[in-house]
Amino acid sequence: MGARYPLMFLILLLLHVANAHPRAPEWLTLNGRRPLVIAHGGFSGVFPGSSQLALSNAVSDSLPDVVIFCNLQFSSDGVGFCLNTFNIENSTMIGKGNDFASRPTTYKVNGEDIEGWFSLDFKSKELHNIPLVQNIPARTQIFDGVQFMLSLDNVVKIVQPQEIWVNVEYDSFLRKHGLSSEDYILGMPKEFPVTWVSSPEVALLKRLAGKITNNTKLIFRFLPEDLVEPTTKVTYGELLKDLKSIKAFASGILVPKQFIWPVNKDLYLDPATSLVKDAHALGLEVYASGFANDDSYICHNYSYDPSVEYLQFIDNSDFSVDGVLTDYPPTASAAIACLAHTKCNALARPGDAAGGTRPLIITHNGASGVFSDSTDLAYQQAVKDGADIIDCWVRMSKDGVTFCQGSLDLNGSTTAATSFGGKMTTVNEIQNKSGIFSFDLTWNEIQTLKPNLIGPFSESGLERNPAAKNAGKFVTLAGFLDYAKASNISGILIGIEHAAYLETRGLDLVAAVSNALIKSCYDKETTKQRVLIQSEDPPVLSAFMKFPKFKRVFEIEFDIGDVSQPSVVKILEFANAVKLRRSSAVRVNGFFLSGFTDALVDRLHTASIEVYVGILKNEYMSLAFDYWADPTVEIATDTWSVAADGIVTEFPATAAAYFRSPCSNPEQNELSYTIRPAIPGGLLNLATYGMLPPAPPPAPMLEPSDVHRQPLPLCPTEPMFRTFRCRLAPGEQTGRKAMEYSVKPAGDG
Ligand SMILES: *[C@@H]1O[C@H](CO)[C@@H](O)[C@H](O)[C@H]1NC(C)=O
Ligand SMILES: *[C@@H]1O[C@H](CO)[C@@H](O)[C@H](O)[C@H]1NC(C)=O
Ligand SMILES: *[C@@H]1O[C@H](CO)[C@@H](O)[C@H](O)[C@H]1NC(C)=O
Ligand SMILES: *[C@@H]1O[C@H](CO)[C@@H](O)[C@H](O)[C@H]1NC(C)=O
Ligand SMILES: *[C@@H]1O[C@H](CO)[C@@H](O)[C@H](O)[C@H]1NC(C)=O
Ligand SMILES: *[C@@H]1O[C@H](CO)[C@@H](O)[C@H](O)[C@H]1NC(C)=O
Repeated sequence: MGARYPLMFLILLLLHVANAHPRAPEWLTLNGRRPLVIAHGGFSGVFPGSSQLALSNAVSDSLPDVVIFCNLQFSSDGVGFCLNTFNIENSTMIGKGNDFASRPTTYKVNGEDIEGWFSLDFKSKELHNIPLVQNIPARTQIFDGVQFMLSLDNVVKIVQPQEIWVNVEYDSFLRKHGLSSEDYILGMPKEFPVTWVSSPEVALLKRLAGKITNNTKLIFRFLPEDLVEPTTKVTYGELLKDLKSIKAFASGILVPKQFIWPVNKDLYLDPATSLVKDAHALGLEVYASGFANDDSYICHNYSYDPSVEYLQFIDNSDFSVDGVLTDYPPTASAAIACLAHTKCNALARPGDAAGGTRPLIITHNGASGVFSDSTDLAYQQAVKDGADIIDCWVRMSKDGVTFCQGSLDLNGSTTAATSFGGKMTTVNEIQNKSGIFSFDLTWNEIQTLKPNLIGPFSESGLERNPAAKNAGKFVTLAGFLDYAKASNISGILIGIEHAAYLETRGLDLVAAVSNALIKSCYDKETTKQRVLIQSEDPPVLSAFMKFPKFKRVFEIEFDIGDVSQPSVVKILEFANAVKLRRSSAVRVNGFFLSGFTDALVDRLHTASIEVYVGILKNEYMSLAFDYWADPTVEIATDTWSVAADGIVTEFPATAAAYFRSPCSNPEQNELSYTIRPAIPGGLLNLATYGMLPPAPPPAPMLEPSDVHRQPLPLCPTEPMFRTFRCRLAPGEQTGRKAMEYSVKPAGDG
């Protein structure tokens, strides 16, 4: 069904440079033009901030008018360098075993003592040789130590950005130490494309106001409201109340994003302030700062989709900010050029005349990224969010009632631990840890439980929608079928697991599911909705061959790199679709993509076997670095490079937003930007020698013997692929130490 379009993307890449159409003036920005993407030290979410790699990748992977944000630092001899942090201890190797390690200083800056390493203690000659490192621990460190601090002159010369934004953070402090940012800025060569100068200090901007060329805009940067502006001695909160006085010396303001959309202590969004409208009314532009795809404190309203956050600022019915300052300029570019103003676009269904060949959006336990597993709320959300197929993994109670639940083990996904702790048992056939299993509880007992939403990354602080933690009702299979039938979705997926084990407990899952489907008329050709039956047991799928209408999906729950021809023949005996793990569709090495498994997907497609890939999640910790912490990039990759026929996701809204966007159609070549699939190996090839993770052994080929007796997958060390249905590798009985390059929870994101 799907087709790969690598060439198309190459052509688009070439086109989008030459072919920069601004959108129609539908933007609520001050000047009516589309908002700007301002790259904070370049693409600092992936590469060390302000490094050549970060700057040049920001230029090549963002909208053509991306602005490079240079946070200016000075050497002792007055040369301006770009670096995101004032204390350069953690963003360079300055304190680490070199000649400078013994030179930390303590400075009083705006009334506070700061100890560390500061550029003004070093000569420019020395700074040019200081290697840069990634200063946020959650981000990859494979580019550390080979890129060097760049002076603004070198940024202009080497990176040749179209536009630069210079920010001077501590002007009065610098003046005390004999460094004049005013002289530096006014003395910059005319050909430097510096079109914005910002500072959180009123006096500097006032001094520059009469003198700077008219095509450079002065922007007042607001710091947190309780801090005192050092030159007027009033707090930024006070200054915020008097925007008119700011208009006297600046043409715009740069504010933390929370000034516009405040976030409460539970990490939910409060109503917007009137700041943007007030400032616009005075003729002041408004730029918002603090955007990063891997922000651990991203509020729950965005469901970990960074694009949704940008849209909140640029595509609401009331206002749009004039630009966003971000560590991930490609995601901001995509939000502006691809996703804004597309909410009302039709979402054509695959198979419809207009739907073409896009992959199906198949949910995993409903919209389980937003509401607890398989609850009525999770299914309603999935339908609302644009899923094509909603899924029910059918479990049975002790008294034979079938209901939908993500796991046979109710500990964790429900509140069972509090009331039925005594039913905790270990069943090795099912999982590697003990649990409270649905077949040990009656339906009446199960109905006394509440759902319990905990995201797979809650240990790392990434909780899912905590306000709805225990919200929603469990749904019986019959209730699920009734609901699906009455909705506008294109089909349902019924998952069947552990049928053989349940039989030993006197429960016939296959018969129960067949009967329910017959009872609801889902077996009839006249019922337009599709039916997918998914299982990893060939006998289970064989049992459904008597329903010719049903698609039978063989789930391969361990990593494979290819499939032998005899296995394809074997699969065809009982299935006509296959569900692959994400790590079977794309080869991974640690948290990097190293290649595709084209041969595998092609062999399945040649045999008319559809290929579904999952399970996709939005949390950045589940994304390889090559996806840039942007779940939409993974969806684009599965669509165009893997050529998947379906993607299985816990966040159907993110997939639907992509398919509503003109950027999901590579034939739309008059776009100024598009969302490109990830390029496996792209980051690894740029990595510092010696920092590469060791290449893992290639995933095995699926052989006929595996088809009938799937080995339990090896327990993954990466949270990206975490599951408890796994076995430990020989010699791995004790906990494996996390590799140095693996993701750690983000600090301040
Ligand atoms: C530098 O990193 C250390 C260790 O992670 C941390 O304790 C310190 O606060 C960081 N300093 C700055 C200025 O971010
Ligand atoms: C800037 O523009 C104003 C009028 O708009 C003009 O009076 C002034 O001379 C210009 N300044 C410079 C430095 O070009
Ligand atoms: C954010 O989500 C909360 C909880 O669902 C809701 O009450 C609030 O209205 C949302 N905020 C905005 C601005 O949409
Ligand atoms: C399906 O219906 C829901 C409302 O029940 C709506 O929000 C959604 O947009 C519809 N989806 C499609 C693809 O028409
Ligand atoms: C069962 O759930 C409780 C509460 O969520 C949790 O603390 C405990 O670790 C779980 N037990 C197992 C074996 O997973
Ligand atoms: C069970 O699987 C998890 C997930 O990979 C792993 O972390 C854990 O060590 C395994 N436990 C046992 C007892 O095998």
